[in-house]
Amino acid sequence: MQALICDDYGGIDALRVGELPAPSPDPGSVLIEVESVAVNFADILLVSGDYQLRPDPPFAPGYEVSGTVVVANQAKGVSPGDRVAGFLWYGGMAERAVLVGSNLAVLPESIPFDAAATLPGTYGTSYHALVDRARLEAGESLLVLGASGGVGMAAVQIGKALGATVIGAVSSAEKARAVLDAGADRAIRYDEDPLRDEIDDATDGLGVDVVFDPVGGEMTEQALRSTRWNGRFLVIGFAAGRIPDIPLNLPLLKGNSIVGVFWGRFTTEEPDRHIANLRTIVDWVQRGRLKPVVQQTFPLADGKEAMKWVADRKAIGRVIINP
Ligand SMILES: NC(=O)c1ccc[n+]([C@@H]2O[C@H](COP(=O)([O-])OP(=O)(O)OC[C@H]3O[C@@H](n4cnc5c(N)ncnc54)[C@H](OP(=O)(O)O)[C@@H]3O)[C@@H](O)[C@H]2O)c1
Repeated sequence: MQALICDDYGGIDALRVGELPAPSPDPGSVLIEVESVAVNFADILLVSGDYQLRPDPPFAPGYEVSGTVVVANQAKGVSPGDRVAGFLWYGGMAERAVLVGSNLAVLPESIPFDAAATLPGTYGTSYHALVDRARLEAGESLLVLGASGGVGMAAVQIGKALGATVIGAVSSAEKARAVLDAGADRAIRYDEDPLRDEIDDATDGLGVDVVFDPVGGEMTEQALRSTRWNGRFLVIGFAAGRIPDIPLNLPLLKGNSIVGVFWGRFTTEEPDRHIANLRTIVDWVQRGRLKPVVQQTFPLADGKEAMKWVADRKAIGRVIINP
């Protein structure tokens, strides 16, 4: 089968489109024909050798997919022909992929494959972070850094669906517009003014209840200093490239909590809860409460361009590859 192949952890430039053997499903798994695979920042880390996981090359990156079941090997509740979305760590940027039968959602016809490919990992991460980890409540305030990116945009929409007041922080006017279009109450620009001043201005100096931080770097400490009493600071990722050092007097003085989020591990530690979350997300999309933003689609042959698009910080919402 055709796949976007990583041979040597040489990053995006070293990827090539070529042939890999089609995988076969173990008992309890399904083989799908991949229609759509979302490009995640983690895929870029993976092919550069900078991710927690290092599969033996050659392999295809791609961790959240949608497609049609071709073979169901003793998998419960799923049959050939079903439209599904699921998560697989890597292997999704290929014509065929294997999903564990208990780790996927069967999709209603109303959800297109491109949108569906963003649900398991992108929406799954932001839902797990805001609901399970931060316990965000209606009426609370939520600051989302990198708010126009994949998990950022999902956090904006889920925050609104949960009844929070949402402030999206971004780096350009175009991204600010996209975040407001996605439902944020306010967009602030960290490329123009110091983040702390902007948050003070947006919250009348009170600060926010919850911060969702997939960016890291210098934004983290400023955002942590802008939390309210009993605030929760969600550590999502470090897209800016630097893992920040945090003075531990800050959570003491603020009476707040720094809360780690590792969605991939959550799916294996708490599989029932993960699947319940995914079903809720699918239901909310079906009812129009969440509207996945797919900015661009690329054929598999242009998979490298799709990955570069995300690495170059051009993505708004998700970029999709269609194998
Ligand atoms: N903890 C978990 O379980 C989990 C799950 C999924 C993802 N993540 C992590 O969350 C982060 C975001 O993932 P994603 O797939 O949503 O990424 P994405 O779509 O590329 O979004 C990342 C955002 O970060 C901002 N950013 C700031 N500095 C950047 C830089 N130097 N390079 C690239 N982006 C930069 C960009 O917004 P501006 O241009 O507006 O700043 C961009 O929109 C990654 O670190 C990823 O590993 C963690």
